[in-house]
Amino acid sequence: MKGLKHIFVFCAFACTLPAGAGVHRVMAEPDSVSLFSYATADDDGRSGLRFAWSSDGRHWTSIGNGRSYLRCDYSLWGSEKRMLKPEMYRSADGVWHCVWQLHAGDREFGISSSADLTDWRRQTYFTDARFTDCVPSSWTRYPQAEAVIGGVSYSGTVAKVAWADVERLIRYAGYNDYRQSLYNECAADDGVRFAGLQPVSLTLTARPAEAKAISNHLIGVFFEDINYGADGGLYAELVQNRDFEYAEGENGSVKEWGPAYAWAVEGSGASMTIGTSSPIHPNNPHYATIKSGSDGMALVNSGYDGITVRKGEKYNLSLFVRLADAQTKIAKIRVSLRGSNGRELASAVVKAAPGGWKKLKATLTASESDTKASLVVAPVSAGTYDFDMISLFPKNTFKGRANGLRADLAQTIADIRPRFVRFPGGCVAHGQGIDNIYRWKNSIGPLESRKPMKNLWGYHQTMGLGYFEYFQFCEDIGAMPLPVIAAGVPCQNSACIPGRLLGGGQQEGIPLDSMEAYIQDIIDLIDYANADPKTNKWARMRAEAGHPKPFNLKYIGIGNEDQITDVFEERFTMIYEAIRCRRPGITVVGTVGPFYEGSDYEEGWALADKLDVPVVDEHYYVAPGWFIHNQDFYDRYDRSKSKVYLGEYAAHLPGRPNNIETALSEALYLTSVERNGDVVEMASYAPLLAKKGHTQWNPDMIYFDNGSVSPTVGYYVQKMFGNNSGDSYVPVDRTLDNSRADVDLRVASSVVVDSNTGDVILKLVNMLPVEVNTTADLSSLTDGGRASLTVLSGSPSDTNAKPVDSSVTFGSKFSYAMPPYSLSVIRMSGKSK
Ligand code: AHR
Repeated sequence: MKGLKHIFVFCAFACTLPAGAGVHRVMAEPDSVSLFSYATADDDGRSGLRFAWSSDGRHWTSIGNGRSYLRCDYSLWGSEKRMLKPEMYRSADGVWHCVWQLHAGDREFGISSSADLTDWRRQTYFTDARFTDCVPSSWTRYPQAEAVIGGVSYSGTVAKVAWADVERLIRYAGYNDYRQSLYNECAADDGVRFAGLQPVSLTLTARPAEAKAISNHLIGVFFEDINYGADGGLYAELVQNRDFEYAEGENGSVKEWGPAYAWAVEGSGASMTIGTSSPIHPNNPHYATIKSGSDGMALVNSGYDGITVRKGEKYNLSLFVRLADAQTKIAKIRVSLRGSNGRELASAVVKAAPGGWKKLKATLTASESDTKASLVVAPVSAGTYDFDMISLFPKNTFKGRANGLRADLAQTIADIRPRFVRFPGGCVAHGQGIDNIYRWKNSIGPLESRKPMKNLWGYHQTMGLGYFEYFQFCEDIGAMPLPVIAAGVPCQNSACIPGRLLGGGQQEGIPLDSMEAYIQDIIDLIDYANADPKTNKWARMRAEAGHPKPFNLKYIGIGNEDQITDVFEERFTMIYEAIRCRRPGITVVGTVGPFYEGSDYEEGWALADKLDVPVVDEHYYVAPGWFIHNQDFYDRYDRSKSKVYLGEYAAHLPGRPNNIETALSEALYLTSVERNGDVVEMASYAPLLAKKGHTQWNPDMIYFDNGSVSPTVGYYVQKMFGNNSGDSYVPVDRTLDNSRADVDLRVASSVVVDSNTGDVILKLVNMLPVEVNTTADLSSLTDGGRASLTVLSGSPSDTNAKPVDSSVTFGSKFSYAMPPYSLSVIRMSGKSK
């Protein structure tokens, strides 16, 4: 597969050279030249390894305009990922090795190897102590030198190389520049690119004899607690920091962040302190202690940007209270909702008995709607009270589940008809350092015993939306659960402590002597989902939580777009082999890095080949132009190898909008994913949710605030594909009456058959500014008749377009004009037998 790609790469570039290029050479090529390898100090080497060449060792020419051929991937973006003082070595087999310092003056190094100086293998990081192991004395070491390039003097190493080596580097840079220019194509230039373009005609004729089976669970969703997607989002809890567990340092941009965040105390003489001496549960160590000398004292929670309540709706309140030892009488506590205008919207009185923590409950019915209400907890009599787990849920959660999900948001996701849900991340799954790896066991059981943690995206995870709730949600929407567990390593972008190689980053990994316990946790997760409560302790916990029947877990992801290092490989292999051996019914989804190419992609695929991993998770966030120019990406995949889960993808334009242009480029690409549904088993856009005013990442599929949900145009593409998927793909003969390649690439179609209904579904994508008049001959598949037509269209920058549904009558051969910039889905009954 990879070999094929490289042939394609170099042929494609060669085809773009002017006619005769390379034939009429005026000057003879040098036999050999000097190759200078260096990094720039002004950006601490973050732009990586660069090259220049010289025929006399004095006058240097930059190669590829100073492009980087290798970048360091060690530790944090922004402050780390440095390549300092790169040195080149060569082993007897001709392989190049680049060794660089990770920090100034440190004796910690990165190393990577390449046969051709363009294709670099996995990076390994090591300390001075291991230098001689990693850099054998048999390697040729190239001398240090100074070179002036473009008037600036650099330090680096000089090697004598064949001219062909330099030429290859130049061609590589040229090809990549050319390729980038294709990926940069955007609709803003369509006015010029397609000036004078007339409507295009397309004919499609189905070839049912060549139909092939495709995945019946292709379209799914990827849920991660990013952008306040869970707490303050999908998870319906209305009280922020209900457990007083917000920790300083979780959110660097909010000064007041800590155990008292979102809480205020009212009343003269009233005070609140945070206690830890005898909590409800050790996993939940903080609670609030209120001393009240008078009436009028209250603890007030402002919710997540306010609490939204709706007139007439019921809200379930619960709280843990403990009275001070001296109090021997029952104490009354008034709980109420206070509107933004100060009016009371609902109230109830709960009674706390002496003698330790007591859980109290009440139902509040809102008398008015408000988007900025607050919750007031007011002891009626003077005294000292400990409070914890003060919680308020709408009664109307999705499917009425206790500890449930926001009905409107969950329904919007369900409306996609996703066949699977991947959770809990993303980067949240592998965490910022090993202590931040998401541990599923911390997310189950009574809420007061769950172990909250810092969210890697800079806030707090209550774990209220935990594994039980994820599994339940999957079941409620008819989707397969696809949990992702860290591969024993945290995110490669985790902070490392300079001067300490094993300082918290990916290289630390879970210590090998703890891996057995870590693997047991994964086996326990599979049992939690699938085992019999009569014989398995974890399954019993599932039953106690209200679900005696199995959740029918079939897939588990191991790793999330990790850097493929030795540290990763060792741990991934241990986990993979253990699951294969101990729970053979489970399909493991491996990972091949964060990009569609490069060392993690290549190394990840090589590891998947070696271990025979059934499915691998690919990620790429790319420009619309990438999707337009890579519709053959999966056509080139080897069918005998691992299947693909396209776990994260989205089209990114400058400014990161979610508009018709991005959405249609995703739709265009999805038609090619359907065509390759025999190798691509699942696909999920990312990220899914974003709370307005709290987004760390754009674009997202669904934006929301406390009271409303705003699906994007990209959401509608997902919904149109999710609601119109099939399990058989039918190729077509296609002719377009315009021979321009850029026109051809912007028109796509896909025909699938859904064997459940027998329906034939035609999807048509037009990314041109003119109509595409389509004549479709589907007579071998359908007799025609009433059909549903759904059309999403707009100008490329439109962010508000919505699909329009209609019912139409089509013959088995029909004409249809695709509007400019549109996705159309035509669904018709299959041929009567
Ligand atoms: O989807 C947002 C992030 O993108 C995910 O957490 C991570 O896997 C990827 O880098």
